[in-house]
Amino acid sequence: MSFPDGFLWGAATSAFQIEGSPLADGAGPSIWQRFARTPGLTVGGETGDVACDHYHRMPEDVALMQRLGLQAYRFSVNWGRVLPDGTGAVNGPGLDFYDRLVDRLAEAGIEPMLTLYHWDLPAALDDRGGWLNRDVADWLADYARAVHARLGDRVSRWITLNEPWVVMDGGYVRGGLAPGHRVHAEGAMVAHHLLLAHARATAALRAEGAGNVGIAVNLEPKVAATDKPEDVAATARADAYMNRIFLDPIVHGRYPEELPEVFGASWPTFADADLDEIRTETDFFGINYYTRAVCVDDPDDAPERARRVRQPRHPYTEMGWEVYAPAFRDLMVWVRDRYGDIPQYVTENGASFYDPPQVVGGEVSDPMRIAYLHDHLLAVRDAIAAGVDVRGYFAWSLLDNVEWSQGTTKRFGLVHVDFETLARTPKQSAAFYREVIDSNGACLADAPRIPTTEAVVASAHQTASSLQEAASSNA
Ligand code: BGC
Repeated sequence: MSFPDGFLWGAATSAFQIEGSPLADGAGPSIWQRFARTPGLTVGGETGDVACDHYHRMPEDVALMQRLGLQAYRFSVNWGRVLPDGTGAVNGPGLDFYDRLVDRLAEAGIEPMLTLYHWDLPAALDDRGGWLNRDVADWLADYARAVHARLGDRVSRWITLNEPWVVMDGGYVRGGLAPGHRVHAEGAMVAHHLLLAHARATAALRAEGAGNVGIAVNLEPKVAATDKPEDVAATARADAYMNRIFLDPIVHGRYPEELPEVFGASWPTFADADLDEIRTETDFFGINYYTRAVCVDDPDDAPERARRVRQPRHPYTEMGWEVYAPAFRDLMVWVRDRYGDIPQYVTENGASFYDPPQVVGGEVSDPMRIAYLHDHLLAVRDAIAAGVDVRGYFAWSLLDNVEWSQGTTKRFGLVHVDFETLARTPKQSAAFYREVIDSNGACLADAPRIPTTEAVVASAHQTASSLQEAASSNA
């Protein structure tokens, strides 16, 4: 079985991670620009001032996409380039950049998928409370209208928010990401405002005539490490906190039942009218998948009180994430079963591995990334075979880039970036991906390249028992 005709093959990036020049042409600062400039908050003191310099090298990067054979490109717009104060007057030159990008993509025959919000809230809006201020829902909707007014004639796929869970958990609850709060009690309110913002931006885009509007959520299947009731309950909390918190309200108009327990006294009673508004038809779900989590109960790991446990004898990426492709297929099936037959796009999937620090003989050899992509693409194919309506796949990421607070130390790219010279060199995984695209997935071999834990354990048992047999027959 191959991939359906018309399946869309792409790669993804986000504005802060690649563009650089955050204040060029009248742009207003974002919370990321502010956060990254605060000493000690990013690895290596990365500021994002240059990043991949995509702001100046955009035409070269589109040419690169063309060389890779991409059919689609998912990028995000930096809100502060469009509205320097977050609301109010539109900054024409900021929008011009995305206008040129979209034109270049069209010339190259590459379809754009536009994300409005990939974590770079204008700093001026953070000064007004950011995601804690309910007005943010209207701010996002106004911004959506401004972007649509300029690009709506050429952009057909829209994503309101990228990974609202990370905005809430990383930005407000655990604080490793901008704006860097560490207040559990803020989580519920931030989640609720993200949902209202998604609903209002979706309504605004639809009113302007956009036909294809979705949201990108990062989902991580949670598996209980044991069948002890406390581990099973912890796993359910972790699943509610990360996987169901946004999709349940959008599709079913209610929050998961575990959330009052997760958030404790900070969980308010939300107005029915809000939940009615949040329950919106979504044209597609963007699924970002990297890993699964095997969980145990841990009262110290607030707010969800579930800790992930490392799986012995199993590959991990440089982010410390377990490589486990079978869970990806099951996840897409779960989304279909729980939320209905809504089209799905894989809006991010990929891995950071150690790549050689230098390009050797014009090549960057990245066999682990090839194996990762291979196995995860097989999982997508399996989900399609199980009847899930998956319409496309976007590899994360086109380029090595600024991995947020990790700076440039974590490389996810199909294309290597030398951060001294900014030279781009496609890795071997880019050539592999090109073959996949050209054959619409037919070139994927059926056997996974990375053995699962179960396979590794089974083969270890087999080796042990044959050694034992050999020992006893020798005796
Ligand atoms: C984000 C990306 C990020 C990637 C790898 C996702 O959480 O959307 O911006 O670089 O995962 O961490």
